[in-house]
Amino acid sequence: METYAIKMEHIQKGFSGVPVLKEVDFELKEGEIHALLGENGAGKSTLIKILSGAHEKDDGTVRVFGEEVEIHNPQDAHALGIQCIYQELSLIPHLSVADNIFLGRELGKKAWINERDTYKKAREMMDMLSLDINVKSQVQSLGIGAQFFTEICRCLLGNARIVILDEPTSAMTPIEYGYFLRAIKKLREQHISVIYISHRLDEIKDICDRVTILRDGKNVRTAEVKDITIPEIIHEMVGKDASGYLQRQQGADLTKAPVMMKLDHVSSAKIEDISFELKAGEILGVTGLLGAGKTELANVIFGVDKKTRGTITVDGREYTFKNPRQAMKAGIGLVPEDRKRTGLFQEFDIKSNIAIVNLEQMEQWKVLVHRSKEKELAKRCVKDMNVKCRNTNQKMKHLSGGNQQKVVLSKWIARNPKVLLLDEPTRGIDVGSKEEIYNLIHELANEGMAVMVLSSEMPEVLALSDRILILHDRKCKGEIAGEGATQEGILMTITGGGDDE
Ligand SMILES: Nc1ncnc2c1ncn2[C@@H]1O[C@H](COP(=O)(O)OP(=O)(O)OP(=O)(O)O)[C@@H](O)[C@H]1O
Ligand SMILES: [Mg+2]
Repeated sequence: METYAIKMEHIQKGFSGVPVLKEVDFELKEGEIHALLGENGAGKSTLIKILSGAHEKDDGTVRVFGEEVEIHNPQDAHALGIQCIYQELSLIPHLSVADNIFLGRELGKKAWINERDTYKKAREMMDMLSLDINVKSQVQSLGIGAQFFTEICRCLLGNARIVILDEPTSAMTPIEYGYFLRAIKKLREQHISVIYISHRLDEIKDICDRVTILRDGKNVRTAEVKDITIPEIIHEMVGKDASGYLQRQQGADLTKAPVMMKLDHVSSAKIEDISFELKAGEILGVTGLLGAGKTELANVIFGVDKKTRGTITVDGREYTFKNPRQAMKAGIGLVPEDRKRTGLFQEFDIKSNIAIVNLEQMEQWKVLVHRSKEKELAKRCVKDMNVKCRNTNQKMKHLSGGNQQKVVLSKWIARNPKVLLLDEPTRGIDVGSKEEIYNLIHELANEGMAVMVLSSEMPEVLALSDRILILHDRKCKGEIAGEGATQEGILMTITGGGDDE
């Protein structure tokens, strides 16, 4: 009989009496990389949190290397060799890579930290994973990829035998992703077993040995990756056929549409000399590799970063925004990239989160914030966006990752801005919901909203845009028509030019 690294049987878990996991069976073989897939709210994070000690199961059994265990807290999980890397990384930004790896388990018997050994050991771990990261650099100066690898090293140092990754690649650049592939294969060589959660289905074939698909809190299928196709995976996820390949819809005729926003040679501390026009009813895609300056561009338009040169015109009036409030007043909305930090109040409920950027709408009724209007608005948003929640009184932090993102989108859309900036709008959103959100964005544009979609996912930009602006190294590298654009074409423009790298 095979011993499994993990064997979960009949796992049940509910929150306030609402079942989330229903008799889930899940097995992880030793040394395998096992994908855990499913729509937003299917129960993936809940299942792995039972293993990592963040949640306790209501019923069922968990075996780790053949032995039945009770995991009550993260310490129990660590003692069993289970390490989890959540989407929100937990490093200390101003410490070095090496210090973060060894945090809490400093080398040397003496009270002081043996710096040379720390660096040497950290260097060896990076080498083992075939990574070229300077272990003396401060974590905050590094990209998401390097930060993630630092966490992996931390896990290895904790003698992990089972590593759980919750959406690790959603913010990685293609280059980082290449390193990630190599590193994860090294883990397999070390007989470490991995549970891998991702919404990027194209990765599954590169990375995983088996997949388990959850739908609505049940395990609907476990299969060898070689025995299942991506359309089959999507079918199991959503319970019906869906293409998974999203086609760009025919855009409206924009020749007579008025210009809604114009940037003329705009610079900030972080971007250089950007010019473009955005018409009412147009969807402008902005792409480039991570770090190209997309978020920085959104920030200068929205008054987060100071404009140092050039002019921004919105609906025929020139502005210099000192803060986001002024930008909002002029009719701009921004769905930020990092919802945890800037998009949401985790401790508040859904309806307050939606109301908070829509106060003017509420105030029309002359009661400071009219409770019933607040509720009505929230209900409409949740319905339009198909947010999976019990009701609008539910706290934000109790929604699944993808559903939180949907609330952020819906609250800004409810404001009905003239210009809507969407920064990585579907990060962490499942395939089925992505299609719904794309349709919604098209509808908004058809009603005359000017939309800017900033995204490093090229299929997303291709599916949505009338026109595509390509950024590289904080500057504009070119502009191409959405129709007939291809991924290769965009990459050519990024790498073309020949004036760098
Ligand atoms: N602490 C909690 N209290 C109440 N409900 C919760 C709590 N945590 C999760 N839920 C609910 O459990 C369900 C499953 O959530 P979970 O986070 O496991 O989904 P997921 O599959 O990880 O989705 P995503 O892809 O969006 O991250 C959701 O409906 C969510 O609202
Ligand atoms: Mg999740």
